[in-house]
Amino acid sequence: MKGNICYSKSSNEICIVENGYLVCEDKKCAGVYTELPEQYEFFPLFDYSEQLVVPGLVDLHVHAPQYPFRGMAMNLELIDWLNAYTFVEEAKYKDLEYAEKAYEIFVDDLKKSATTRAVVFGTIHKDATLLLMDKMEKVGIKGFVGKVNMDRNSPDYLCEENAEKAAIITEEWINACEKYENVKPILTPRFTPSCTDELFEKLSVLQKKYNLPVQSHLSENLGEIEWVKELCPGTKNYGDSYDRYDMFGNDCPTIMAHCVYSGEEEVETMRKQGVFVAHCPESNTNLSSGVAPVKDYLKKGLKVGLGSDIAAGSSLSIFKAMAMAVQCSKLRWRLFDQSVEPLTVDEVFYLATKGGGEFFGKVGSFEEGYEFDAVVIEDATIRHPQELNVKERLERVIYLAEDKNIVAKFVNGKKIL
Ligand code: GUN
Ligand code: FE
Repeated sequence: MKGNICYSKSSNEICIVENGYLVCEDKKCAGVYTELPEQYEFFPLFDYSEQLVVPGLVDLHVHAPQYPFRGMAMNLELIDWLNAYTFVEEAKYKDLEYAEKAYEIFVDDLKKSATTRAVVFGTIHKDATLLLMDKMEKVGIKGFVGKVNMDRNSPDYLCEENAEKAAIITEEWINACEKYENVKPILTPRFTPSCTDELFEKLSVLQKKYNLPVQSHLSENLGEIEWVKELCPGTKNYGDSYDRYDMFGNDCPTIMAHCVYSGEEEVETMRKQGVFVAHCPESNTNLSSGVAPVKDYLKKGLKVGLGSDIAAGSSLSIFKAMAMAVQCSKLRWRLFDQSVEPLTVDEVFYLATKGGGEFFGKVGSFEEGYEFDAVVIEDATIRHPQELNVKERLERVIYLAEDKNIVAKFVNGKKIL
């Protein structure tokens, strides 16, 4: 592939090769070159000389069933928002006809975006979640998808009957996922307030039996954190409510969304155990949750990526998440805490690519051996009168790109758009 190639090796700096060659061999990156090595001369060439080529973006946290009410219902904080809007929408996915319509729109929009990998929440409904997985599998997006578990503090119309039944249905769903190539199951206890100890115990057994990753929410909102303290006496912190069931890193690959208010001890456990933070700046703004100290997490060596968190976040665009991560970190720094510096464009580009990609293995960079996920961006239509270098063009794209600027997309060596 010929083009203006931009990728991260580390969070400090974006590597840029103007008018370079990005080689894909056996679905993997075989290097970025200024001149094409002889041995590749007979490879088919995709010529994107005028465009930017970046690694596919990674959305570490998105609720597919909430896509219908994106951009609406932003007047409440987390728990009230869940009860007033979110659970009402998610309950509709019991009806497969509704799920079919809604997930078709979600997956089609995801396909047109710059996202190549996504870690997705479904609903408690097994069949609707499999329908979502069918659709993602078909368009070639790679990802993890979770049938949600919730058996307490949930409305009757969106609550599993009891822990035992929940575990049985969850295991049926896990077994039904064997047929997929691109999408894999991820255990998804919604968050501690919505899961009984008995359910956590049973999910922990399934985690070990099937060696599954886990996703959930952590330390998002101050009221939520107080509630978890009441619900889980004896735990050291919110994270401990997952850790006590071995669903907090170590042998259990784990993504925790938000981590806005994680204390020192929680953060240290996450670092030691390799728990991924899904930073969701738009969601944290819309639900007045706060701003996570991401720069501090990076300095401490935590694994961090970005999430759209539809529908608390309104936009599926991970470019938008990058811009908002920078913007929110600046306000946090200016208004609240000068000890944590703002994020840079180089850092958020890293978070959206290699940072989140690490959850999938060697994903999110063009370094040798990385899975070949690439997105081609046509930015000439974002008009400008002056000359711009590639770095300036990339920065503009982060702030200004829309789906129409995404002109080609490759996942694991295969062109899907
Ligand atoms: N915590 C538990 N469920 C949710 C959800 O659907 N969205 C967000 N942002 N936080 C949650
Ligand atoms: Fe969420």
